[in-house]
Amino acid sequence: MKTALILNGPNLNLLGTREPTVYGSQTLADVEKLCAQACASHGFALDFRQSNHEGQLVDWLHEAGRVHAAGTLAGVILNAGAYTHTSVALFDAIKGTGITLIELHISNVFAREAFRHHSYISPAAKAVMCGFGVNGYAMAVGGLAGMQTGA
Ligand code: DQA
Repeated sequence: MKTALILNGPNLNLLGTREPTVYGSQTLADVEKLCAQACASHGFALDFRQSNHEGQLVDWLHEAGRVHAAGTLAGVILNAGAYTHTSVALFDAIKGTGITLIELHISNVFAREAFRHHSYISPAAKAVMCGFGVNGYAMAVGGLAGMQTGA
């Protein structure tokens, strides 16, 4: 069974109470449950993590690269939060590992402030999703499943 690694960046631990009009009222624990259900229905093992620290996310991407090299990684779904718009280090980590990665955002970043319109992640990502709310996580797991067969 391959693993879907779902990484969440800064402030996503505040889901549920953080700007509910933008991010909804579900908590990160609720999102993890949603992902567990989606992974179970697509035959993936779920590895779900959150960190507020850029270097920790870089280390986890490197770890994903090793799992990918071992042949047991389905791919990574990354909501890098605000690091999306600032982090050359995350771009380099994705490029340097050869992993399949889906960039995900809960909100439609293009309907928000101009500083959210640029992503350092997108050029290194296989696919990009935003604006579906937390259901986007389950949809991204489905997308990852489709990528396994090239569908
Ligand atoms: C976000 C969008 C980012 O611009 C923001 O900094 C976040 C969350 C989203 O999921 O919509 O922290 O990635």
